Amino acid sequence: MQPNHPSDVDLETAAAILRSGNVCAFPTETVYGLGAMASSSDAVLKIFETKRRPRFNPLIVHCADMDMATALAEFSPTALRLADLWPGPLTLVLPLREEAQISDLVTAGLDTIGIRIPAHPVAQQLIATVGQPLAAPSANPSGRISPTTADQVRTMFEGQVPVLDGGPCNTGLESTILAVQGDKVTQLRAGGLARAEIETHLGRQIGIAGADAAIAAPGMMKSHYAPRAALRLNAAGPEEGEAFLAFGPNQPEARTSLNLSETGDFKEAARNLFAFLHQLDASGVARIAVAPVPEEGLGEAINDRLRRAAAPRA
Ligand code: TXA
Ligand code: MG
Repeated sequence: MQPNHPSDVDLETAAAILRSGNVCAFPTETVYGLGAMASSSDAVLKIFETKRRPRFNPLIVHCADMDMATALAEFSPTALRLADLWPGPLTLVLPLREEAQISDLVTAGLDTIGIRIPAHPVAQQLIATVGQPLAAPSANPSGRISPTTADQVRTMFEGQVPVLDGGPCNTGLESTILAVQGDKVTQLRAGGLARAEIETHLGRQIGIAGADAAIAAPGMMKSHYAPRAALRLNAAGPEEGEAFLAFGPNQPEARTSLNLSETGDFKEAARNLFAFLHQLDASGVARIAVAPVPEEGLGEAINDRLRRAAAPRA
């Protein structure tokens, strides 16, 4: 693909930027990531600076294949079974290998590491070309909604960050995060892979981390996904002056209204969620009313993101 914006780069250039210890935004199937070489603290520091992240929270490390992943973490038999779900929107938090070449900033000094193999072909090619795992949080300034298109990255960083454009993200929600200790599995964050699918694959139920889980994830900071507009959840319809984010058929009309999925399809709704929040927010309304979304399948992760977006700013 030919770059057509000043901050756009092609795959070879993106790989060269990353190898030289700088950050570059790249597509994954979940959301766009702001990548840096996970082995270099200098490079990883630039992620925090660019995002203006207030705290050094641990970052997810993106691998091209299992060889790369097993060089970083210890895989229990249960972890290996879960890794069968890769590539895809799933992050496993596993014991860090002692000899792993990884910056302490990536793990925030923990003895665990969050790893995933993304399904996006451009992400896989990029990591393989760099030849090293990439640490990458979502490519948004801290506290803003995660970007699902290259254009949102360009806008949010005002063209100051190089972007590898791989089209709109297919999943549209960040990865599901599971902590795996031996055969114990705990969901730390609902995400692009529904818990029900994971449980079917494992043939058993998994735990869910409470709000005060021992491993606090910044994705768990309440206002993490905040748009500028206020959100009113579980709304039957829009009130005067509100935009409306609908879900399902036969929704009430509003002047500014978008439907996450007219057929009530969760995958479609997940794919549209952040893009539609961005769009309604950009319309300048003070408040967005949001239709109820059932708490099933990907609805769990969609509602999680909506609740965070609705939480008052810290
Ligand atoms: O889909 C995604 O996961 C996207 C794309 C770019 O891959 N990335 C993403 O990264 O959402 P970020 O930084 O927004 O969220 C990373 C989450 C945080 O909540 C962090 O606490 C958790 O992963 N995490 C990473 N390593 C961890 C560890 N060792 N223990 C506990 N949580 C960890
Ligand atoms: Mg994020």
